[in-house]
Amino acid sequence: MAHYLVFLGSTRTSTPPSPARLGERVAKACERLLSSLPHTTAEIIDPLALNLSDPFKPHFAYPKNDAPDNLAALADKIAHADGYVMVSPEYNHSMSPALSHLLNHFGASLFAFKPSAIVTYSMGQWGGVRAAVAMRSFLSELGCLPVSAMVHIPKAQEALNDDGHFDQDQERWESYFGRTLGQLMWWAEAATSYKSHVDPAHVSPAFKTKPSQRNAPGSEDN
Ligand SMILES: Cc1cc2nc3c(=O)[nH]c(=O)nc-3n(C[C@H](O)[C@H](O)[C@H](O)COP(=O)(O)O)c2cc1C
Repeated sequence: MAHYLVFLGSTRTSTPPSPARLGERVAKACERLLSSLPHTTAEIIDPLALNLSDPFKPHFAYPKNDAPDNLAALADKIAHADGYVMVSPEYNHSMSPALSHLLNHFGASLFAFKPSAIVTYSMGQWGGVRAAVAMRSFLSELGCLPVSAMVHIPKAQEALNDDGHFDQDQERWESYFGRTLGQLMWWAEAATSYKSHVDPAHVSPAFKTKPSQRNAPGSEDN
């Protein structure tokens, strides 16, 4: 059985410009389509349910075993998931601040050597493609390399209803999602099975104190 986390990249409960949190519809569609596949379970990670503290203090800044329960529980889920679906609206031609803020709470070693899929949406005609471009480098740095196929949903308020079902062209939409989710599953299964042959921590140990530990010789202190 493979388990996937669907990160919902919006905390916007107000309106306008669009109906509140279209991201809920998109995340529900991802969860439903993943769960309909054999030997696959999926779960939505909702930043509103997490009550992230202010000021920002990431999971890895706490002493071992001393992180708040909400962060510790999600760190555990991230570590044990087989892959991730990252759902983001486009805000000012960039990825959602709610999603980057949520993901910034967790170290790359929790996500590393597992794939991710990028799913973007917007109320306009481009479906969040500009956010998706930025997400590729963000997710690569996090260690969960995004698969090449992506999902972009223009006019998400018309495409999806509150339950995360498509109002029209259901079959075409599902086949469009299927290409990306299929790639995600292929890479997730490949990574999971190869881990039993070679431990990734052996070939690329997590840096323990500061990111400069991965720098080229001569630039250790930068
Ligand atoms: C601050 C902000 C910036 C936005 N910038 C863009 C944008 O650059 N491109 C776009 O297509 N839509 C943009 N929109 C419209 C969003 O696509 C739309 O509001 C969408 O529903 C946001 O997702 P959410 O409802 O899940 O928060 C923006 C909306 C907000 C609130």
